[in-house]
Amino acid sequence: VETMKSARNDDSAPAGSDLSEQIKAATKDNHVRAENTQLMLSYQKGQITLPQHKVLLCSLYEIYKALEEELDRNSSHPAVAPIYFPQELARLEPLEADLEHFFGSDWKNKVIVPAATHRYEQRLRKIGREKPELLVAHTYTRYLGDLSGGQVLGKITQKSLGLSSKEGLSFFSFPGVTSPNRFKQLYRSRMNSIQLTAEEKAAVLEEAVAAFQLNIHVFDDLQKMLSITAETANQSQSGLRTSTLPASP
Ligand code: HEM
Repeated sequence: VETMKSARNDDSAPAGSDLSEQIKAATKDNHVRAENTQLMLSYQKGQITLPQHKVLLCSLYEIYKALEEELDRNSSHPAVAPIYFPQELARLEPLEADLEHFFGSDWKNKVIVPAATHRYEQRLRKIGREKPELLVAHTYTRYLGDLSGGQVLGKITQKSLGLSSKEGLSFFSFPGVTSPNRFKQLYRSRMNSIQLTAEEKAAVLEEAVAAFQLNIHVFDDLQKMLSITAETANQSQSGLRTSTLPASP
């Protein structure tokens, strides 16, 4: 965790008028909140379990499916075209490969997501339909995150789950991106080239904060989902025990 924290650039400088700087400043507090959710802490501590990782993959699948379908549909929109990088960034296929690895060939029947994931998806569909200029807030939140902290998390996850090869870890790897840092710089300059009115820019910043919150709610819902299934498992275990053990005197 310490090395990741110290890898962060000094962002104490006031944000300029560039969208990339403003969006980073606007979401700074929410980034701290997202990093400190139980689920993200488990990753950082190298304590992620297979059930945790599997439910996250399911939700990411639904989220990226909605995000990338909306991006594809709006790829020639002037506020989308500059930040449209399907070759380099698309996560849907890698997620499908990982789901197949962990769930088997009938993975599609096994994808389970909580209500918060459906809300996130619905938000993406709505802005894809009604306000495509806000999609950049969502691509920023997910893709730049995956190219930042996500890179370290991939290595930790491999260790935590005891995976021998890169199998099941496609989500974390970007074969189309040689240098994540240089790509992030290109991405920021493309974000900054989007022509937005003051109103639209304010709406993008607001949407980015909402995007972080949608992610946080997904993480929290997943953790709740897991604690309920763990509880049921414990109950049936203890139920088994009381029925097989002789009653205590
Ligand atoms: C950037 C760590 C979770 C979104 C970063 C950076 C680090 C980091 C080290 C680079 C910061 C810099 O270059 O200044 C982590 C860790 C996480 C985590 C350890 C949890 C395990 C998340 C989540 C999201 C997210 C859950 C959103 C869903 C972003 C974004 C950036 C970023 C958008 C780019 C910031 C910018 O340069 O504008 N993260 N992160 N991160 N992270 Fe995270």
